[in-house]
Amino acid sequence: MDSFTLIIVGITSNLAQIKLIPTLYDLAASGNLPADYRIIGIGRTPMDDAAFASFVDRVLHTGNRHHTHPIDSSIQKSLLSHLSYLSADLTDPNSYTNLAKILEKSPTNRLFYLATFPSLYATIFNNLKSSNLIKESPDGWVRLMIEKPIGHDEDSARELNTLLTSHFREEQLFRLDHYLGKETLQNILTFRFGNGVLEPLMKPEFIDHIQVTAAEDFGIGARGSYYDQTGALKDVGQNHLLQMIALATMDAPNSYKTQDIMTKRVEAIESLVPEPDSLVLGQYDGYLTEKDVSPLSVKDTYFAFKTHLSRTRFANIPIYVRGGKRLARTATEISIVFKNSSERVLSHLPGGTSPNVLIYRLQPNEGIVLRLLTKVPGHELKVEESYMQYCYPHHKDLPDAYERLIIDAIRGDQTFFNDSKEVEAQWRFTDNLYQAVKDKPTVYQPGSWGPASADAMIQQDNRTWLEPSIAFCNF
Ligand code: BG6
Repeated sequence: MDSFTLIIVGITSNLAQIKLIPTLYDLAASGNLPADYRIIGIGRTPMDDAAFASFVDRVLHTGNRHHTHPIDSSIQKSLLSHLSYLSADLTDPNSYTNLAKILEKSPTNRLFYLATFPSLYATIFNNLKSSNLIKESPDGWVRLMIEKPIGHDEDSARELNTLLTSHFREEQLFRLDHYLGKETLQNILTFRFGNGVLEPLMKPEFIDHIQVTAAEDFGIGARGSYYDQTGALKDVGQNHLLQMIALATMDAPNSYKTQDIMTKRVEAIESLVPEPDSLVLGQYDGYLTEKDVSPLSVKDTYFAFKTHLSRTRFANIPIYVRGGKRLARTATEISIVFKNSSERVLSHLPGGTSPNVLIYRLQPNEGIVLRLLTKVPGHELKVEESYMQYCYPHHKDLPDAYERLIIDAIRGDQTFFNDSKEVEAQWRFTDNLYQAVKDKPTVYQPGSWGPASADAMIQQDNRTWLEPSIAFCNF
């Protein structure tokens, strides 16, 4: 791998503390970084080397549900020897002169990671440009990594994309949706297109409907100021859940090359048809008293909607999608529910629904499982549901999505990043869904599965939400 300098603008941000610093530690621990690399963290707070080292130490030792393993002090020390801190006012050109001085002595390949407010992007780019810090040369590439929010609707996303492409070529831009870096989501591609045996069943003739669930049993924590501007649908629906649908329903790419995969993925998203009348928004009881939330907030912490694709082999199959916070259980999965072909043979099926469901479980109990009906051993004809399962080896920590994506950006591999067309298509879909919203979100009880109106929405079609099971891949 090339030597590189990673410049994190916003090293004291929530994102850097929860994701980026722990990820860099893991990359150092797994030996996935080259010998020659430098990381420059930029923040507003003045800190000398000792204060910065104790900040990193505190971050690594603070409870973090994404990073639960013990910290080895020698790895932490080695990481710190590659890390430096620059206290900077991003609107002040002098700060960029200081940055230039550090960059002069650092590896020439530069990856800028903006973990800061999008309202600052234009100022940052202009200053980087006038300080000659984003000019590529034969000796070094320059790349930019940003993540959501990439705009707050289609128009603002387009505006941001115009700003980005006025300073960088599309090949230099790495728009990150961390779901695309999840092992379990990437595995869907291999599972579908590497195993010819199931793909022929993936069509309306055999599939009754699809369900996508991203449920979290916890609330918004300390992120009120961000969340109350955003709401659940824009926080995870517009991006992570649409990517889940895309990978589960895209047509086979011509090859595993970046452009071929991206083309099919974007095609799936562009062909999603919003059904605004189906949209249900909810807010958990107690949200209005969360820190940094307006007591009059009408933001959603839950959403459910129905959609379908107009193209690809999954065209016209109903897709029911739901996501939210403070729900009964944390589980993220895609369920492909097959038509009930066994009804004629066995009249006493449990629940009257189809026994056959293919589940891509992203978390927890990660795996890909097929629910089947089997005979209970014994003299009677009794049946039960069983799972044919692929589970991830439980003794191995799966690499975090950020580890995967930072390495991809350093390698220059854009396969699992969004391009401008894709982000704009995601917003177009979400904007259309929102069109019909007139009412406040319905209040639901923490620990429930969301508002009853979401159950009514799917029941109208004589279907019910599948409760995420923990009966498989449960070590
Ligand atoms: C983030 C959202 O993008 O994704 C959070 O802002 C959400 O609200 C998180 O909790 C879910 O990610 P993961 O990897 O924990 O499923």
